Amino acid sequence: MIRIVLLGAPGSGKGTQCKRLVTQYGIAHLSSGDILRKERAQGSQLGRKAQAYMDRGELVPDDLVIEMMLQAIKASPKGYVLDGFPRTLGQAIALDNALSKDGGRLDAVIYLDVNDTIIEDRMSGRRSCPTCGAVYHIRNLKPKKAGFCDHDGTPLVQRPDDELEVVKRRLITYHEQTRPLVDYYRSKGLLYEVDANDGADVVDVRLRRIIEGLGGSNKKASTVAEDRSDV
Ligand code: AP5
Repeated sequence: MIRIVLLGAPGSGKGTQCKRLVTQYGIAHLSSGDILRKERAQGSQLGRKAQAYMDRGELVPDDLVIEMMLQAIKASPKGYVLDGFPRTLGQAIALDNALSKDGGRLDAVIYLDVNDTIIEDRMSGRRSCPTCGAVYHIRNLKPKKAGFCDHDGTPLVQRPDDELEVVKRRLITYHEQTRPLVDYYRSKGLLYEVDANDGADVVDVRLRRIIEGLGGSNKKASTVAEDRSDV
């Protein structure tokens, strides 16, 4: 069983890489953003509460997100990769407590390190499928037919929170509230840092190398700096 967190700024490629890991390792992809967007689309109480925060580029309050994500984790006994959660120290501590109650712990936290200028370009060019959640980019990861999803032919859309002003707000929120988790997980010996400024295939190789090096769910991860020279 693999229990991993992908940590990184908005647009760092968490969703893109998670989709690949899920195919390769048969684990669940638990994306807090995707779950919240689904709740919004369904008009649930949680979705309505989350809406204004998301549109402003702010974080949804911890109590709402923690409960939602712990439920998703419980429903994933074969392992998972967490995408977008935890995002505050409070969420990280709640996750640690919930896992240790069941005698478990995370295997690794992988930090996708990307420059802010690259982030802005990635997010302004992102297009998503509202039906299956597939993610494309108008230059870097083009669909086979421009504007339509490869999997189900649905017209692709731009996320409302990918407008430049909201992206800038999300980056500020990230640096203030989420970036400190890098030090938190480093101090626990769980952190792996990956240079994720390069193309998705290169980043994929770097991630798989880390995951395959874990050597079992209970092996303690040590902090490593990713060597770019050999991919
Ligand atoms: P969420 O959906 O989690 O957004 P995010 O973390 O801001 O991440 P993104 O989905 O924007 O980016 P990503 O890293 O997945 O990048 P992607 O792979 O798409 O959260 C949205 C909102 O929900 C938050 O603002 C907040 O309000 C709320 N929320 C969610 N979780 C919460 C929590 N835990 N607590 C409180 N509130 C929460 O890639 C981006 C683009 O780049 C794509 O076009 C892709 O094709 C392209 N790309 C990817 N990798 C590469 C590469 N290596 N090279 C070139 N292009 C690439």
